[in-house]
Amino acid sequence: MILEEERRAVVRACQDMQRLGLVVGTAGNVSMRVGDRVAISPSAVEYQDLTPEMVGVHDLDGAVVDAALKPSSELPLHLAVYRGTGAGAITHNHAPASTALGLVVDEVPCSHYYSGMFGGPIRVAPYARFGTDELADNVCAALQGRLGALMANHGAITIGPSLTKAFSLLPYLEYVCEIQLRAMATGAAVKTLDEAQMAQVLDGLKTYVPTRIDR
Ligand code: 13P
Repeated sequence: MILEEERRAVVRACQDMQRLGLVVGTAGNVSMRVGDRVAISPSAVEYQDLTPEMVGVHDLDGAVVDAALKPSSELPLHLAVYRGTGAGAITHNHAPASTALGLVVDEVPCSHYYSGMFGGPIRVAPYARFGTDELADNVCAALQGRLGALMANHGAITIGPSLTKAFSLLPYLEYVCEIQLRAMATGAAVKTLDEAQMAQVLDGLKTYVPTRIDR
């Protein structure tokens, strides 16, 4: 089976999204790009039933390379994001706080410094029906210079050079949105970080990795 490792990784990511409560039912989708091939979760399959064989492989125009099932309805979105960014993997979910916040703001301000993980204020892509090229264009625009975006009346998306990176950002995105929602719910003014403070955060995050102490 071609891209067997990647197909296994897509299955694991889908099932982990469900385990973490980031999706309900068959919501969400996951893909990985390897060269001019994309392994993407199939449409409308219950995650507990998902196997690597059910994850299809398509080319960058969406043509089937090796697939038994209809691909995710968001294949056009995934392909547009691969074309429009340098991403190597994409995770799309319908997590509650991310989805709720996308209904009331056009951009998530930098109220928590974790916004820096996404490259700055997280944009909300305007609504368009799921599976459409219009949604793909809106999300692609919202992702410019960012590793995550919200999708109005729909959910959230994260991207990264690897599936490990894209997936690891999902809980952080949900957390940032949850904090902003809770702060807004108090009715008080929400403190945000200015550009200079965020520049310092971006700088600090560059070295936020496990580091051995030399002695
Ligand atoms: P698929 O099952 O077709 O991937 O659709 C789920 C979804 O979240 C659409 O945005």
